[in-house]
Amino acid sequence: MELSRLVKQRYTTKAFDPDRTLSAEQVSELKTLLQFSPSSTNSQPWHFVLAGSEEGRARIAQSTQEYNAAKIRNASHVVVLCTRATLDEAHLQAVLAQEERDGRFANAEAKQGQHTGRSFYANMHRFEMKDAQHWMEKQVYLALGTLLLGASVLNIDACPIEGFDPTILNQVLGLREKGYTASVIVALGYHAESDFNKHLPKSRLPQDAIFTEI
Ligand SMILES: Cc1cc2nc3c(=O)[nH]c(=O)nc-3n(C[C@H](O)[C@H](O)[C@H](O)COP(=O)(O)O)c2cc1C
Repeated sequence: MELSRLVKQRYTTKAFDPDRTLSAEQVSELKTLLQFSPSSTNSQPWHFVLAGSEEGRARIAQSTQEYNAAKIRNASHVVVLCTRATLDEAHLQAVLAQEERDGRFANAEAKQGQHTGRSFYANMHRFEMKDAQHWMEKQVYLALGTLLLGASVLNIDACPIEGFDPTILNQVLGLREKGYTASVIVALGYHAESDFNKHLPKSRLPQDAIFTEI
């Protein structure tokens, strides 16, 4: 009930109030949302660049037209959700080692089984389906959904932004050298009084058009 109200209440903020900022505690909650987002085989093929400074936001804004740049400059915090350029063995081993530290394996056999299973899917997407990049980016978009819904629960306004030049953003954030590519941006903060979208009714296709119950 409460959740239905929240999903109808959340909306894409088109103008942010530059004088209102998120607290350190709110930022910490948002980081936890991203960290704990689910991903296929727990592959976590992502990296998040979080800009809480004017300089950081301005750097990200360089990759967008003014229409989106103003949102990025005036938001409190901006997250660039990045996708790994490769799902290599080093990353798979890093995930496996973390799962071990977190106590997920009763014995060496369980650990090996997990690695074999995850590698099977990684290799299938790399060498057979040849869509590893697309597969990884799907996981990043799950993190996007988690962040948008979570922000609304925290009463934080947000604007997801795909309207940017990835070549410029990869370059200004040095993402390519680090093995990542920018997938989507989210501006977070509080809406300005001038935000026209705040007062427009939400619009979605009706349920009978989008559901088939069998
Ligand atoms: C992946 C994604 C990319 C988007 N990119 C932009 C964008 O570049 N600029 C913008 O103003 N809105 C952007 N939007 C907002 C959508 O237009 C908006 O989510 C949609 O119209 C539904 O409205 P609502 O979010 O207010 O419910 C984007 C949304 C998503 C999910």
